[in-house]
Amino acid sequence: MVDNMGKVKVFRCRICGDPYIGSEAPMHCPFCGAPQRFFVKAQDWNPDEFNVKLSEISKKNLEAALQLELDNASFYDCAKNKAQKAGDNYSLAKFKALMKVEREHASAISKFLKISSPELKKQACNADSKVNSKEGWEREGRAIKSYSKFRDEATEQRLKEFFGALVEIETDHLDLHSEYFK
Ligand SMILES: [Fe+2]
Ligand SMILES: [Fe+2]
Repeated sequence: MVDNMGKVKVFRCRICGDPYIGSEAPMHCPFCGAPQRFFVKAQDWNPDEFNVKLSEISKKNLEAALQLELDNASFYDCAKNKAQKAGDNYSLAKFKALMKVEREHASAISKFLKISSPELKKQACNADSKVNSKEGWEREGRAIKSYSKFRDEATEQRLKEFFGALVEIETDHLDLHSEYFK
């Protein structure tokens, strides 16, 4: 037996619900990007986390958020493919990670709406990764604006928290794209 047995644990992210194995909770969720404070030990997970009775306005806002996430995920998917074609490995990694995170957001939103996460549609983008970063920056800005509004309009504490976390995560993405404008 190795002497570091029992050093890793199972955690769960309260924003996307996904499990994570590690010695401690990660700084950012590898699936949805949520900061560390949203992690709980798997034993402490509340199985009703996504089982929220939705107000009319939150249902409408979640549906709008779902479209936004799917749209951004397909945009990043296109940007990733262009970067791959151009042999730009950094942009490939960046857009691939963003695509996965936005897909995860779409899937978390679908859990609240109690539907299965829709497939991505094809989306156009530029051949130039710098241009796509600029568009990504604009898209993230719009997402932050919408989610701040959705957070403020939510009457359910859980949805205030959820939209608030999305605002934080998309702000990290905005920061990432700003590498070209500094
Ligand atoms: Fe997460
Ligand atoms: Fe997102």
